[in-house]
Amino acid sequence: MAIRIRKGALLTVPLDPAAGAPLFHQLYDGLRRGILDGTLAPGVRLPATRGLARELSVSRNTVLNAYEQLLAEGYLEGKIGSGTFVHRTLPEEMTQVRPTSERARPIPAKRRALSRRGELLARSSSAVPWRSGTPRPFRPGIPGLDDFPFDIWMRLVARHNRRPLSQLLSYDHPAGYAPLRRAIAAHLGPARAVHCDPEQVLITTGSQQGLDLIVRILLDPGDAAWVEDPGYPGVRAAFQGAGARLVAAPVDECGVDVAAASARCPDARLVYVTPSHQYPLGVTLSLCRRLALLDWASRANAWVVEDDYDSEFRYAGRPLAALQGLDHDGRVLYLGTFSKALFPSLRLGYLVVPPDLVGAFVAARAVVDRQASTLTQAVVADFLNEGHFLRHIRRMRTLYSERQETLLRAARRELGGLLEACPCETGLHLMAWIKGSREDKDASAAAAKAGIDAPALSSYCIHKPKRGGLLLGYAGYDVRQIRDSVRRLALALR
Ligand SMILES: Cc1ncc(COP(=O)(O)O)c(C=O)c1O
Repeated sequence: MAIRIRKGALLTVPLDPAAGAPLFHQLYDGLRRGILDGTLAPGVRLPATRGLARELSVSRNTVLNAYEQLLAEGYLEGKIGSGTFVHRTLPEEMTQVRPTSERARPIPAKRRALSRRGELLARSSSAVPWRSGTPRPFRPGIPGLDDFPFDIWMRLVARHNRRPLSQLLSYDHPAGYAPLRRAIAAHLGPARAVHCDPEQVLITTGSQQGLDLIVRILLDPGDAAWVEDPGYPGVRAAFQGAGARLVAAPVDECGVDVAAASARCPDARLVYVTPSHQYPLGVTLSLCRRLALLDWASRANAWVVEDDYDSEFRYAGRPLAALQGLDHDGRVLYLGTFSKALFPSLRLGYLVVPPDLVGAFVAARAVVDRQASTLTQAVVADFLNEGHFLRHIRRMRTLYSERQETLLRAARRELGGLLEACPCETGLHLMAWIKGSREDKDASAAAAKAGIDAPALSSYCIHKPKRGGLLLGYAGYDVRQIRDSVRRLALALR
């Protein structure tokens, strides 16, 4: 079927209702191909959804879903309803129009095609920025690495490494080392109001593996999944890699807007939320919204993934209870990580799953990578059981709170006319809103040139945010670094 995009430009999109893939996915695929081979050039306006649906004899939802997916993956920009365009800033090498002869050249016999899932994964990983080396201010998500109690840690490592028990050197249960699972269950009850038995706790190699297991076990290609907008790129990439249909769930000052998301997609299979500390805006999901979310999930028979990545660090009032503790229907999967509370390279986290999912998750874990390192798990179990974990958290809470205060004071002094830095009661970063009409991506690029990492809020968004902002991580940097970097940021933005 040929779509007329603009005068003279026709794009052929074969749509076959009898094919295995859903129609929206076939349309998405055709449009994506058109963008990649240059038939749809950067900046070109796509037809309105109603008109295109009529032209293709498909439902408007089919077109809406294809456009939403392309918006989510960054191929399109704009707003459905008021103009959708091929993204103007796609990397040139992605969209270079190659001569037809080159395009038609057969794939060399030795170059094997990726699987459909492999192709999706290879593409989605570009959404997760990874950087190695020493973190520099104000890269978010970095805890105070210099203040970690390595003397205690090394003592525990030595205890297990000097003469390891053969149990620690052999294979272990795929769900994890039993003493660590017990220690986590015992910690989560009082600290986070999570209701679970140790059998429900699966040790992962971090939240990202937890997300990967969740999508493998609970999502089929084409299934709809709500993701917060703005939200965590790691979850978007994991869902895209599974071929899921991303649905942008807007976030306001009360957290994810359940009514708006369910109006947009009432029958999602799964929803991902960060209730205690929305990433990246920092707001908390209100009780009203928590109840509405659980109620909707129950009616829609959907799963709720609660990512509780940094709520140990709450600076005002009592720690907030987790959403999982309010769930009486066995719908919430609770994700935790030691990346923020200890350090990211440890690669240890945990997943608390409802009792009826334990068997499937344990079986899948055995296939995926069998298990995490038992020796490391034994060290972390001792760290928790001997009280070092809680002492470390308490110490870091005071330190991070001082660092946030330093950042806010320095920002008020140096960045007054440029950014409005807002205090945040939880976590390791805060939002600094752009004053004036400057694009946040331009501000972030100017900061990077001056050696400062300050990611733009819009790079975490599916739809352009109402107001631009920069994320400023403070927990991993000492007060001197913070003051100095704020000064350099101010210079860069001026
Ligand atoms: C929202 C969110 N979830 C989870 C994580 C931690 O991921 P992992 O446990 O894979 O290191 C991060 C780290 O930046 C995050 O920002």
